[in-house]
Amino acid sequence: MIQEKPMTQSLLNRVPVIPVVVVDDVDHAIPIARALVAGGLPVIELTLRTPVALTAIERIASEVPEIFLGAGTIVEPSQAKQAASAGAQFLVSPGSTPTLLRAMTDSGLPHLPGVATVSEILTALEAGYTELKFFPAEAAGGANYLKSVSSPIPAARFCPTGGISTTNAHQYLALPNVGCVGGSWLTPSDVVASGNWARITELAAAAATL
Ligand code: 3PG
Repeated sequence: MIQEKPMTQSLLNRVPVIPVVVVDDVDHAIPIARALVAGGLPVIELTLRTPVALTAIERIASEVPEIFLGAGTIVEPSQAKQAASAGAQFLVSPGSTPTLLRAMTDSGLPHLPGVATVSEILTALEAGYTELKFFPAEAAGGANYLKSVSSPIPAARFCPTGGISTTNAHQYLALPNVGCVGGSWLTPSDVVASGNWARITELAAAAATL
């Protein structure tokens, strides 16, 4: 059994929607963060999926301190420390291997480990986690799946991500075991590429009231 001592600061009670952001051009990082804040979503999960992601985190940490800045897509243990050093304030991983959990715990940052099965949920609970990312939410069973696990495993609460948008977010947010959802629909790649930051603020404002 994994014995961890995860940080207990809640990550699920801040906003109804955590924007999941992929930054391809580092010059987009600050305008995206400012646009999300302006729309009422002062939280960002910036994914470590591009070569500029850590630099983007550094810039946002320095220039947009009012945003609660997370690093997502932590898939290798070394990324936890790198993200913390860059200025991330929380970490998110799509899965939860023992090594990843150790690295995220060692970073000293609050973190959301990813789960998709009942056994993974139970393993995470045994390790002391009660807040989890449910990924990939739609492909792994969607809101019906989380509804089914809420009765036997009420202690686990989730931020589902993967295939969620305004059309289905409410199905998740209505569940007692969902604190918030995450998604990339707030920062569509074409909107980001065109520098339409006002549109991102509009999308964030709509999501903030879900
Ligand atoms: C994530 O990392 O949480 C997902 O890639 C977000 O999924 P989405 O792009 O379908 O919103």
